[in-house]
Amino acid sequence: MTRTLIIAISLEITVSVFLYGKSLAAAPATKNKGPPALFAFGDSMLDTGNNNDLLTALKCNFRPYGRDFMGGKPTGRFCNGRVPSDFLAELLGLKKYLPAYLDKGLKTEDLLTGVGFASGATGYDPLTSQIAVIHYSFALSLSLRTNSYLTGKPFTFLGPLDGTSLSSAISRAHISDEILLFYFFVIIQSVISMPNQLNLFKQYKRNITAAVGQKQAAKIVAQSTYVMIAGNNDIANTYFSTPFRRVHYDVPSYTDLLIDHASSFFMDLYGQGSRKIAVLSMPPIGCVPSQRTLDGGLRRECSERANEAALLFNSKLSPKLKDLSKQLPGSRFVYMDVYNTLLDIFQNHTKYGFEVGNKGCCGTGNIEASILCNRLQDTATCKDDTKYVFWDSLHLTERAYEILSNETFNKYKNQLL
Ligand SMILES: *[C@@H]1O[C@H](CO)[C@@H](O)[C@H](O)[C@H]1NC(C)=O
Ligand SMILES: *[C@@H]1O[C@H](CO)[C@@H](O)[C@H](O)[C@H]1NC(C)=O
Ligand SMILES: *[C@@H]1O[C@H](CO)[C@@H](O)[C@H](O)[C@H]1NC(C)=O
Repeated sequence: MTRTLIIAISLEITVSVFLYGKSLAAAPATKNKGPPALFAFGDSMLDTGNNNDLLTALKCNFRPYGRDFMGGKPTGRFCNGRVPSDFLAELLGLKKYLPAYLDKGLKTEDLLTGVGFASGATGYDPLTSQIAVIHYSFALSLSLRTNSYLTGKPFTFLGPLDGTSLSSAISRAHISDEILLFYFFVIIQSVISMPNQLNLFKQYKRNITAAVGQKQAAKIVAQSTYVMIAGNNDIANTYFSTPFRRVHYDVPSYTDLLIDHASSFFMDLYGQGSRKIAVLSMPPIGCVPSQRTLDGGLRRECSERANEAALLFNSKLSPKLKDLSKQLPGSRFVYMDVYNTLLDIFQNHTKYGFEVGNKGCCGTGNIEASILCNRLQDTATCKDDTKYVFWDSLHLTERAYEILSNETFNKYKNQLL
């Protein structure tokens, strides 16, 4: 199989521009009024380092990521500092940092107050965590060299793949040479899919059950707050930047597919004992710097089609969560709008004390994210990121995330506690 098939598919890929391309006796929690723990699922907005050891190009555990964090430590957060899952953990009175579940140094007490399962670049669409995507041909070669330079080892992009014929073809093809990849602009990513985030959560439950016993573990699971966000990568990356879904789906039917996958994830999470599940809406993804660059014309306006897709998705997500709350006894699914808050922060950024609202701090600010945002860009990278809404071309700065987290928390706190 395969090389031919790959090449055919790869050629198709070249016509589209890719975007993007991280033993205790008692639980402490029963003391305060808030939830005993916070758990985060979804993508890079909540990921606190789960991609660090994965075989993927979509990570950020190198400088300048984390430059304002614990003395400049790159932890795998897609930000210069803390991300919304950290802020939310603090606002809920739990802790200042929500550790990534795959973080190796975790102690039992870290587990008991919550961890994150989110994985940058994942999506509700199962294809999203498997395909990957990188910007331009020159950016691809640069990124390959950059990452080898950073990690000291060459890339292998083949991860465990399943599902579509494309994926299985590629998994059988043993592409390992950079040249082929370079010519055909294909990078395979393998980040943690939503079902696999749930599998990690099941493992987590076994871990804490072993540590504190069945009864206490069940209590933590049932009384905690769950937060999640996904969908951005499905729309911006999988749908608009690759041909794989567009040949079969228009935007309305693709958002239906996303809602179906999202809702089966929510039901599975409920099946694991989770009750209070807060789901962030999709942001105005068309206004992030990379979408402005790729789809916003010469003036780098917001990509209207991406924003419209996000709005359509949100208009289906909100009633779906209401239905689930009715259907599933004891559940509370909370739709948390971040679309409007973020649009206001993006468009009225001066009101919030920002000077730049359409470019990231890292590099030129137009396209760099993940492996393209690295030390080689240092001279171009901004000095004062508190003046920027965006840290890289996809992700907000710590300051913008803090404002978003505060506003969202204040709006929904009665339902989160
Ligand atoms: C949870 O349990 C698994 C399987 O026993 C183990 O490999 C893993 O290290 C544990 N994780 C933590 C964070 O304790
Ligand atoms: C921006 O601010 C103006 C004036 O306060 C307001 O009318 C408008 O709705 C804001 N934009 C967004 C997207 O919230
Ligand atoms: C967010 O809320 C916290 C807690 O109320 C407060 O200390 C912090 O200053 C707020 N941050 C911003 C940027 O508004």
